[in-house]
This record gives sequence, C-alpha cells and structure tokens, in this order.
Amino acid sequence: MEHHRSTSPQTLVPLLRALPKVELHRHLEGSLRLSTVAEIAQAYHLALPEDIERLRPLVQMTPGDDLSAETFIAKFGVLRSFYRSPEIIDRVAYEAVADAAAEHIVYLELRFTPLALAREMGFPLAEVADWVLAAVRRAEADFGITARLIVSMNRHESPQLGEQCVDIAIERMDRGVVGVDLAGLENHYAGSPFAPAFRKAREAGLAITIHAGEWAGPESVLEAVEELGAMRLGHGVRVIEAPSVAALVRERGIALEVCPTSNIQTGVVKSLDEHPLRALYQMGLLTTINTDDPQVSATTLTNEYLVAMQHLDFTLEDIKQHVLNAAQAAFLPAAEREDLIRRLRAELDPARQASSTSSSP
Ligand code: HPA
Ligand code: ZN
Repeated sequence: MEHHRSTSPQTLVPLLRALPKVELHRHLEGSLRLSTVAEIAQAYHLALPEDIERLRPLVQMTPGDDLSAETFIAKFGVLRSFYRSPEIIDRVAYEAVADAAAEHIVYLELRFTPLALAREMGFPLAEVADWVLAAVRRAEADFGITARLIVSMNRHESPQLGEQCVDIAIERMDRGVVGVDLAGLENHYAGSPFAPAFRKAREAGLAITIHAGEWAGPESVLEAVEELGAMRLGHGVRVIEAPSVAALVRERGIALEVCPTSNIQTGVVKSLDEHPLRALYQMGLLTTINTDDPQVSATTLTNEYLVAMQHLDFTLEDIKQHVLNAAQAAFLPAAEREDLIRRLRAELDPARQASSTSSSP
C-alpha cells in the first residue's frame, strides 16, 4: 500500500485540487470570503474592524481560541451583523458557489440558515431564501457547477420558526431546494421539538440531514434517525462510541458527512491523528469528506482530503472512493445521481474508462 504521510503537500495539493469533487456539508454562513467581510465592514461603517487581520479572529477560528462548540458558534453570531442588504446576500451566495467551483467541486449541496441571514435587518424569511436561490442559480450557470440547496435550522432557535423554514423549503423544491437540516448546539438542545417540522418535510419529499453525533453522543444519533428521519448525518462521528448505533447507521446506508478540521476546532476529536474517520470507513459506513465552514475553519475541501491522506493513511484511491460515496449520498433523484456517479467514475479513473471503452467491440 502507498503511504502518504511522507509525501509533501507540494506534491499532493495540486493533485487533490484538480480532482473532481463532491461537497455535501457546507454552510453558506461559514463560507464568506474574508475580503468580502472586510469590504462590507467598511462600506456599512459597522462597529467592527475594517482591517482583515483584526477582523479575522472575530469570524474565524484562530490559534488560542477555546476548542469548543460555543466559541465556534460565536463566530456565526458576529457574521450575522454583515447581512445588511439583498445585494450582500446575493453576493455571498454567489461567491460561495464560485469558490466551490474554483476548487473543482462539480456537485455542491450548499446549506443556508434563513433565520441567520434575515435577523439583523428583519428581512422576510421567504425573500431571503429567494435571494439565495437566485444567486446560486446564476453562479451555477456562470461556473458550470451543479448546486443544490439545503435549508438549515438551529436547535437553539424556535421550532415554530423551524416549521416556517420547512414551508419555505417545500415551496422551493422546484428551484433547487432538496433537503432540510438541523444544526446548532446539539450539546444543549434536543432535536425532538423539531420532529413535526421534519415529518412535514419528509411527507413533502424533502431529504433530511441532521447534525448529530458531533457535540453529543450516539443517543443523539438515534434521536436523529428514529425521531427526525435523518437520511444523512452531519458529522455523526460519535457513533464510534456505540457499536450498536454504528451498525444501525451502516445497515440503513445512512451517510456520514465527516468534516475533520471542524471536529478538531470544536473539540470533538483531540487531534487529526485520532480522528475516527478511518475506523468508520473500515467498519463499512458510508463516509464522506466535507468542509463544514471553509471560512470559519480556514480550510478548503482540497485541504480536508489532504488531511485524510496525511493524518489517516488514506491513499488517493480512498479519496476517490469518498468522492464517489458523496455522489451516492447526494440528495438528487436516482437518475441524476447515477449520471453524476458515472461522470465521476470516468473523470476519476480515465485509464480504466479508456481500457473498458477500447475493449468494447
Ligand atoms: N454543528 C452545528 N452547527 C453548526 C455547525 C456544526 O458543525 N456548523 C455551522 N453550524
Ligand atoms: Zn455543519
């Protein structure tokens, strides 16, 4: 077996950057360019530093920060003051898709939190959703990427507003919304108050992903699967603590949206070398690799793949398998999902594709 702990990042990064990729777990609110954030601070005379380096620690995890859920979530609180106009919301959504396309993400599921974007200015939730959808559609056309949307709610906010968000998602299923998500402080808030909202989403045909098994243990994963109908898990890595729950997740083919750097920054895992991704993969779970919040975490999907190779003994073949796993777990209709998988197989393995083509009569 090839080992990559010793292969230099200078060799691996261009290789990984060029790979066609699939991203299933990326929050719009965690994807703002720092340069855009600084420009907004300036243009709107916000009571915040305009200088990028002074702004950075307010909106990005920085050495010396507490490695905790609370510190991490606090960055999103600061970012809420930047959503000042429809133009800004359009711009950040457009740039998030542009940045994904620039690192060769060919299929992106971008999740956004209508409440987070609407709060500061009191924008109607439905209008905020429309602005995001329109920007994403424009970026799709401009950058040749396929992007779908997931509407996200926070556990630490009201389930009544959660139901409103589900209605907003249902009304936009013909415009790129494919699923709903529950995020926020899993360590302090149960998911069960959101069960009626997720039941409604499921009955309307939306897919469901739940942040669970991140800041709480396997019992939270059981709640997500049994009470909320999770078809994928945001993180889910703490199923490693309960073999019976890990087995259930494996048997149901529930994909894990693993985000290694995020897990270090919020204190879920002590070090990258100890990350359970490798063990979960070897146990046969449907694992995928994602960024979570590229700006807040100062990472990219390319870098998360690199981390898996450098810290978890993943080979390039393992990385390619994770791209295919993500395509398999995409919230797309079966025919579109199969098209995506076929396209990725061809691009990830041109040699095999060429030989199988040439051997056909
Ligand atoms: N967990 C919970 N809430 C979040 C996260 C996360 O990883 N990222 C953004 N909001
Ligand atoms: Zn997340």
